[in-house]
Amino acid sequence: MNIAVFVSGRGSNLRAIIDSNELKNLVEVRVVCSNKSGCGAFDVAHQHNIPTYSISSEKVDGYINYEELLPILKEEKIELVVLAGYLKLIPPFFVREFPFKIINVHPALLPSFGGQGMYGIRVHQTVFDSSVKISGATVHFVNEEYDRGLIIAQSCVDILNVKSPEEIAAKVLEAEHELLPWVIKKIAQNKVEIVNNRVEIKE
Ligand code: GRF
Repeated sequence: MNIAVFVSGRGSNLRAIIDSNELKNLVEVRVVCSNKSGCGAFDVAHQHNIPTYSISSEKVDGYINYEELLPILKEEKIELVVLAGYLKLIPPFFVREFPFKIINVHPALLPSFGGQGMYGIRVHQTVFDSSVKISGATVHFVNEEYDRGLIIAQSCVDILNVKSPEEIAAKVLEAEHELLPWVIKKIAQNKVEIVNNRVEIKE
């Protein structure tokens, strides 16, 4: 299965996908896209000879817009778009082009601690301040609202005795690096179904 990965940061989730033994011979990262051409994730892509595209809805030198990106993804026969730390909202027309074929990883247990502006350490600071005793990672389908698509899978981490939001972030990131490749594998194996507006994953 050919996938496109959208990134904005250092690219640890992209690296986890590329390095995943479970995805070898099953999934190929064909393109990496970002709203930040200087992001660390592009270095990860270039180390693996994966083409990168800088995306902007505005007119910016060296960037293309979503309308220009679409034919490139179709040409690459992309079957799944993975948002791995991508901080921009995907335009509705683009979501409609990939029905239930765009997934996102969020570093908290949605629907809590999600939505516009909830990204990076801000998520973990809010979790820390809320006094909850578990956090975790969520992978969900992307629709036209931030972090609101059907939840595919979640993974919990114990934060009973953490001393800082940074400690939560580190525990959750580890969970993301396991959960996201696992979900991609299940999608590649056609083991993900939607039944009564819930996502079921076959063994
Ligand atoms: C991850 O925590 C992800 O959940 C969030 O942004 C971070 C991306 O990290 N959306 P990386 O760029 O994959 O290292």
